[in-house]
Amino acid sequence: MEDQHINKRLRIAALISGSGSNLQALLDAIEARHLPGVEIALVISNKANAFGLQRALKHKVPALYLPWRTREEWERRVIDLLQLFQVDVIVLAGFMRIISADFITRYPERIINLHPALIPDGGKGDTYTTSDGSLIPVFRGMHAPLQALEAGVRVTGSTVHYVVPEVDAGPPICRREVPIEAGDTEDTLQERIKKVEHQLIVEAVKIHQQRV
Ligand code: GRF
Repeated sequence: MEDQHINKRLRIAALISGSGSNLQALLDAIEARHLPGVEIALVISNKANAFGLQRALKHKVPALYLPWRTREEWERRVIDLLQLFQVDVIVLAGFMRIISADFITRYPERIINLHPALIPDGGKGDTYTTSDGSLIPVFRGMHAPLQALEAGVRVTGSTVHYVVPEVDAGPPICRREVPIEAGDTEDTLQERIKKVEHQLIVEAVKIHQQRV
């Protein structure tokens, strides 16, 4: 018998600023019927040239460039759009702006972010214990893969987590370690992390769908 939860309707709004490869991972998983009940209802970009907009349109998903003039105005418009498109959950899929605490607290455990580093259970704290028992710093904010390289750690990773007002400090839904290889640059490491993220984002949406 099919699990009722699996087919629960989940309409996603993806907020993007760039390439949208994680959005693509979701679109592909939906097309391959790996996420029954899940639909991308809307993609919103704050950048006109974000390639993710093209990806959405190619899959016949409504996609919108919403210019960022002020945070307040942008968020107000997004709130209206979320209502109009009957969105259940927001996925920040490479969205490069900080959203306000007011916006975030409107949607508790309804905003999901991908962060290219390991965030501890519960989201808070400055250290993370990797599977080999070593303690590494938690790299938050921009350029997390570069921060990991500069810190000289051997392992980093990616975390999909619920968004809270403190940046990159929300409770993880799922995460995976990514080893750092000799000769890694910010670009090579970022790319390896992204490959993992493409699986993680699908996994996280599935987990969220079963929770709500
Ligand atoms: C990902 O690495 C994610 O962790 C970070 O932004 C990147 C987005 O990549 N928040 P893409 O636009 O999905 O290709």
